[in-house]
Amino acid sequence: MSVRVPDSATVAEAAKFLGSGGLVVLPTETVYGLAADAANEMAVRSIFIAKGRPSDNPVIVHCRDLAHAQAVSGLWPPGALELAKRFWPGPLTLVVPRSNVTAPACSAGLDTVALRVPAHTVFQQVLRASGLALAAPSANVSGRPSPTRAADAAADLGDSILILDGGPCAVGLESSVVGWPDGRPTLLRQGGVPVRDLEAIVGPLANAAPGDRPLAPGMKYRHYAPATPLRVVAAAALRSLWEVERRRSTRTAWLVSTESGLRGPDVTVIASRHDAAGWARRLFAALRDADAGGYDTLVVEAIPEAGLGAAVMERLRKAASS
Ligand code: TXA
Ligand code: MG
Repeated sequence: MSVRVPDSATVAEAAKFLGSGGLVVLPTETVYGLAADAANEMAVRSIFIAKGRPSDNPVIVHCRDLAHAQAVSGLWPPGALELAKRFWPGPLTLVVPRSNVTAPACSAGLDTVALRVPAHTVFQQVLRASGLALAAPSANVSGRPSPTRAADAAADLGDSILILDGGPCAVGLESSVVGWPDGRPTLLRQGGVPVRDLEAIVGPLANAAPGDRPLAPGMKYRHYAPATPLRVVAAAALRSLWEVERRRSTRTAWLVSTESGLRGPDVTVIASRHDAAGWARRLFAALRDADAGGYDTLVVEAIPEAGLGAAVMERLRKAASS
């Protein structure tokens, strides 16, 4: 079994393995990451192979602290330092000019590099034990929901890879990604830091233009998609849909709020509809569990788009699109 308790021996083993070009799955506070030495071109390329990730989709480089992040990148744009000081370690990624310290594969041909200082103790221990910067996309097979439990990473990537089990992820959604594509601070991906909190530091964020050349290349690929067809339904329409579905022979899984009042063997109550952080924390695991349950359809209740609710709803809309 490759899923291991992260004690000092396994942390040392993971660090050594990474230093020799290997891949290791590590917990972060957002989602589990598939890590490799960010300075080792072949190691980073092997991440793309393991995930089935398109080669034009760059990966995030994880650093132990702010000084380390600055040492592996070029000159930062105005506002980047303020964001890093406020939100690192934590669920924020900054896209800044690259330097030659990181392997070209991390940037997938772009002249920028995405940087993050993760908060999870186990990831920090491995960063410090290895002394490396670690390239790490989410540890799922491309197109599957990001793993928020060690077992989810194992289900996607197989038993042969070393996985340090740091427990369920506290945030449960990927990091927010901010870049400066035209000099203005721009939201490239919604995530673990609510937009309002980012804007309190740098002012209004421009929005990455949708289209076929999105600024975060990952956003053009279908993401977070369960194999079972998924519908997002307004809270007000849930009860009548429930009555209709009950009279049909198809099997439906329901992912709903406490307030919905729905209960039953096919119902997963995620959290209060006003607890967006609770939804963020449990959503991907619930999607994976429901997807594995042999249902014909998944119905997920829409929640208010306040705070993390906006990022939760963005993930749900993507999971629902076909
Ligand atoms: O929370 C997270 O961000 C997790 C954990 C493991 O840190 N990582 C993660 O990585 O979600 P990934 O590869 O699944 O998503 C990274 C996103 C992608 O949409 C990618 O296109 C974008 O960041 N990205 C990476 N480098 C970029 C760059 N240089 N310019 C623009 N977007 C970039
Ligand atoms: Mg991902």
